[in-house]
Amino acid sequence: MNSSRELLGASGLRLSFGLTTALDGASIVVQPGEIVALMGPSGAGKSTLLHCLAGILRPDDGEVWFDGERLDTMSDRARSAHRLRRFGFVFQFGDLVPELTLRENVLLPLRLLRAGSDALDRAAELLDTLEIDRVADRLAAEVAGGEAQRAAVARALAHQPAVIFADEPTGALDSVSGEVVLSTLIRLARQHGSSVILVTHDNRVAAHADREVVMRDGRLAAGVAA
Ligand SMILES: Nc1ncnc2c1ncn2[C@@H]1O[C@H](COP(=O)(O)OP(=O)(O)OP(=O)(O)O)[C@@H](O)[C@H]1O
Ligand SMILES: [Mg+2]
Repeated sequence: MNSSRELLGASGLRLSFGLTTALDGASIVVQPGEIVALMGPSGAGKSTLLHCLAGILRPDDGEVWFDGERLDTMSDRARSAHRLRRFGFVFQFGDLVPELTLRENVLLPLRLLRAGSDALDRAAELLDTLEIDRVADRLAAEVAGGEAQRAAVARALAHQPAVIFADEPTGALDSVSGEVVLSTLIRLARQHGSSVILVTHDNRVAAHADREVVMRDGRLAAGVAA
């Protein structure tokens, strides 16, 4: 099942919400440092697959593994620890804590991880690279959408995660700001060697990836093996 190069994978995932089948035998393998664009129509199961891969949802059936370990059968506590240490997340609307400044939002996971001064320095550098150092001490609720989204990218990258899960990270931005946020996310992920699973409806966004996979009716379409 698990060759030495695979970082993250799932096989035969099934998950239903009541009568709705969200995943119907979905399988995927992601290599270390690989940038994968996950595409497909609304309702195809993209977000559900992402949540299963990230250990947020447990599938009804099938396996998820990360770094040689089964994620789907791990305790909630161990899965949470993996999410905090090894994964980074960027969602469509940033999901920052509105009452904290952009800087505090970026530092929050680092503080939970009791990260050292090198990580704190890296966070400051990311605010600079993403060109939000100027607004870093403003509340997340009071900045522009593109600025909040850049902070979400900085937060996802600061602890140098093995995998970044990005679910339509630029869906709420205009195309120019979206392009900047995304190309920066991918450039920095490549620098750190992080894998990225990027859900998008936009072909131009997907063009930044190493590989595109298409989901339909809860499964990956044919011809998408690594
Ligand atoms: N928490 C939930 N409760 C009930 N049904 C759900 C839930 N989450 C997802 N679904 C259903 O599962 C199916 C897959 O949903 P999912 O959100 O994974 O699709 P998606 O591909 O991400 O779509 P979109 O492109 O619109 O974000 C859909 O039919 C959806 O309505
Ligand atoms: Mg979705």
